[in-house]
Formats: sequence, structure tokens, C-alpha cells
Amino acid sequence: MGRLENKVAIITGGASGMGAAMAKLFAGEGATVIAADINEANLAKIAELDNVEGMKLDVSNDENWAELTKAVVDKYGRIDILINNAGISSEKTPDQITDADWALLHKINSYGPFLGIKHVSKYMKEAGHGSIVNTSSYTAIIGSGFNHYSASKGSLRAIARAAAAELGKFNIRVNTVFPGVIETPMTANLTQYKEAMAMLVRATPMQRLGKPEEVANAILFLASDEASYITGGELVIDGGYSAQ
Ligand SMILES: NC(=O)c1ccc[n+]([C@@H]2O[C@H](COP(=O)([O-])OP(=O)(O)OC[C@H]3O[C@@H](n4cnc5c(N)ncnc54)[C@H](O)[C@@H]3O)[C@@H](O)[C@H]2O)c1
Repeated sequence: MGRLENKVAIITGGASGMGAAMAKLFAGEGATVIAADINEANLAKIAELDNVEGMKLDVSNDENWAELTKAVVDKYGRIDILINNAGISSEKTPDQITDADWALLHKINSYGPFLGIKHVSKYMKEAGHGSIVNTSSYTAIIGSGFNHYSASKGSLRAIARAAAAELGKFNIRVNTVFPGVIETPMTANLTQYKEAMAMLVRATPMQRLGKPEEVANAILFLASDEASYITGGELVIDGGYSAQ
């Protein structure tokens, strides 16, 4: 029996990187997975896996969320798990950041997860249970120099804590993970900064970067019934970087 047997899980950003690793892991643990992403080409690839369906979603669009959650409940009867994982990054320095840059990062990285919680919690309240896990970032905790990205992920942290406080009485749990640098398409371009990456690895207690599967495993635990009394939880997955 899988650890997510009979569960229906929506994973945003499920077509790439950590989201794709979760889609594969969750489906292998018995869940029906809805990989929800804006990238249709990658969605078609991930939907080739057994028990994974791809659905197009722009997480920053309220109407998109209403349509997607209704479609999932119409087809599968329930939403047990939401993983708010979709996000975008930016390496711009403060003097380069425009109003539009600030707005876009926050619209996708913090308003998007807020909308996800808003829409799935409606169905989870009716069902009397639910589990939501948000992917923030270690840059929300340390002074990382990633400015508007860190701010958007810090905003997500606050949204998640507020939701945990509000939704606990409905048996809906809301937890958040804070990954360090993980080897995914998002960070692939960082390899061009060879010296900076080498310094980052040297500065990480575990002396390496993380793998998407290592984040997926932690999120699986929080999403599952094994974490039945954990809400408002915050789990750092960064090889010890932020512990220093
Ligand atoms: N890779 C890292 O080092 C790292 C570290 C900490 C946190 N994170 C966070 O983890 C999450 C996953 O990142 P990843 O590294 O797997 O990146 P990734 O780029 O491989 O995957 C992100 C996915 O989100 C999707 N997406 C982007 N905008 C969207 C939108 N508006 N609507 C729906 N989908 C959208 C993309 O199409 C993509 O499939 C992100 O929130 C990211 O900020 C990543």
C-alpha cells in the first residue's frame, strides 16, 4: 500500500524540476496526480507517467484556479493535497529591479500560492480534511542578496503561517519547506558562475547542492497522513547552509 493511496494531489509547477520529481514520487505512492503548470510542452511529457494528468494553469490567475479546482473535483471527486511549488527566480540586483519585476515575482511566487490555498480550501473544508505544502526558499530566511525573490518567498512564508492558523480547525494542514540550491532547470544557468558555485558548495556543511528528489521526499512526508499533527511547520532542506 502506497503512502498516498487514494489521494488526489495537485502539484503546481509539476512539469519541471522539483514539481516533476514530486509528480513521479507521489504517483508511485498511489496518488492521482494533477501536474498543473503553464508550460504545456513539459506538461505533455510528465503526463506520460501512469496516474499523472497534466492541466494548464497560470498560478497567478484567479479564474484559472477556479476552473482547475472545479475540473479536478468534477473528474476525481476530491482534492486531498495541494503542493504550491510553481515559481520563478531572478538574479537582478537592487539597482536593476523595476516595478514590473517586483510585481511579477510577487504575483507568481506569493499571490499564486495564496490563490491556490483560497481555492482548494473551499473543497477541503467540505471534505473535512486536506494537506497543503508550500515551496518557499532558504533565501526567505537568510540575507541572500536575492532581493525581490527573497521578499516574495518571505511573503509566502507569512501567507502559509496565517493559513495554518486559520484552517487548522477544518483539519486542513499547511506546511512550508525552504530548499537551498537544488539542481533543477531553474538553477542550471548558475553553473556558468563556476567560482561562485564552488564557493557555495564549500560554504554548505554537506559540501554539495541538493537534488529535486531530496525535496520531493520531504514534501511527501508533510503531504501524507504521517504528518497528521504537523501544521504551520517549516522545514529547511539546504544541506545545513542556513544553520550557520
Ligand atoms: N532550484 C532551487 O534551487 C530552488 C531553491 C529554493 C526554492 N525553489 C523554488 O522551488 C520551486 C520549484 O523550482 P524548480 O527549481 O523546480 O524550478 P523549475 O523552473 O524547474 O520549475 C518551476 C515550474 O514552475 C512553472 N511555472 C512558472 N510560472 C508559472 C505560473 N505562472 N503558473 C504555473 N506554473 C508556473 C514552470 O513552468 C516550471 O515548470 C519554485 O517555487 C522555486 O522558486 C527552488
